[in-house]
Amino acid sequence: MKTILITGGAGFIGSHLVRLFVNKYPEYKIVNLDKLTYAGNLANLTDIEGKANYEFVKGDIVDADFILKLFIERQFDAVIHLAAESHVDRSITNPTEFVFTNVIGTVNLLNAIRHIWKDNTEGKRFYHISTDEVYGSLGSEGMFTEKTGYDPHSPYSASKASSDHFVRAYHDTFGLPVVVSNCSNNYGSFQFPEKLIPLFINNIKNNKALPVYGEGLNIRDWLWVEDHARAIDVIFHQGKDGDTYNIGGHNEWTNIDLIKVMCRIMDSKLRREPGTSEKLITYVKDRAGHDLRYAIDSTKLQQELNWVPSLQFEEGIEKTIDWYLANTEWMENVTSGDYQSYYQKQYQNR
Ligand code: NAD
Ligand code: TYD
Repeated sequence: MKTILITGGAGFIGSHLVRLFVNKYPEYKIVNLDKLTYAGNLANLTDIEGKANYEFVKGDIVDADFILKLFIERQFDAVIHLAAESHVDRSITNPTEFVFTNVIGTVNLLNAIRHIWKDNTEGKRFYHISTDEVYGSLGSEGMFTEKTGYDPHSPYSASKASSDHFVRAYHDTFGLPVVVSNCSNNYGSFQFPEKLIPLFINNIKNNKALPVYGEGLNIRDWLWVEDHARAIDVIFHQGKDGDTYNIGGHNEWTNIDLIKVMCRIMDSKLRREPGTSEKLITYVKDRAGHDLRYAIDSTKLQQELNWVPSLQFEEGIEKTIDWYLANTEWMENVTSGDYQSYYQKQYQNR
């Protein structure tokens, strides 16, 4: 039986990946290592927590001694690394936290696998999950390919870029078997409501202002989170050693168009007069260093590994809205306590 460590498995994407692997691969033992920061929530995994091939370990990837000890004890066969600080706005408020978790945490994992796999890397794999934000910002033309140079602008993307470089450096220098993927913006169930889509669904439901940064003309390429998890599955099993794969939905939206779609769907679901939710749109001070446009060219993944997104955006966003409307207890739990003070600080002066 292979033992696979998934880091950050209690977060948004990690929980979807853990669920997919635990259900699809009974022959793998899945160990989910997570610090349970504000973004990590074991309630994201209640449906699989009792499964025989699943285990949760609470721990911090920044703690090098703990990580090395865990790796020596458990002798993992593979690692899929998602644990990270993931929100751009928080990286503007507290950049150092992003260096610790995203850079040092990643290097700690690399050092630990170097230690336990030093004699034999046969069948082993370290898979680093990254973002398209490392490539910087596009104008109205073009797309990010795997060959696009790195040009990060936010502390978040700079920390992810740095961690990507370390992963590749450990491949080139120490021969570690690594693979990297860079994905566009994800959406779906279990996303913490600091990110655009769940934040706005929650605000629309509660008749709260919708704080649109700048003019709402920034463009993001949205991918359904379960399609990202499927892509990770394919790349983990079939991706080439040392290679990079871009993952994206070919699904670009300006923020304001996307927000208007959400408003229309929610008016209908909540039986409000058409146009009611759009009145909540409030233009606020722009995010510092706000990247204009992200768009991923995922031709390589589609052609080499036969992955395509399974869901059209119109269907995905409706499913997502339905999920948040049905899971009010989840939303209430994650928005109680610290969330309120985060929200106040983040939006009060905008
Ligand atoms: P998330 O913030 O929802 O989850 C991150 C998880 O990591 C949480 O469970 C948290 O508790 C855990 N964590 C944080 N610091 C830790 C530490 N020091 N030790 C152990 N665990 C720790 O993030 P997400 O949106 O699920 O993103 C997961 C990964 O995918 C990240 O690496 C992110 O950069 C990448 N990514 C995200 C997106 C997106 O749209 N959300 C897109 C592309 C790539
Ligand atoms: P976000 O979900 O934070 O993802 P990212 O910054 O990683 O792409 O934001 C998506 C887009 O929505 C981005 O252009 C910023 C914008 N945005 C707002 O306009 N208002 C908000 O309150 C938030 C959180 C984001």
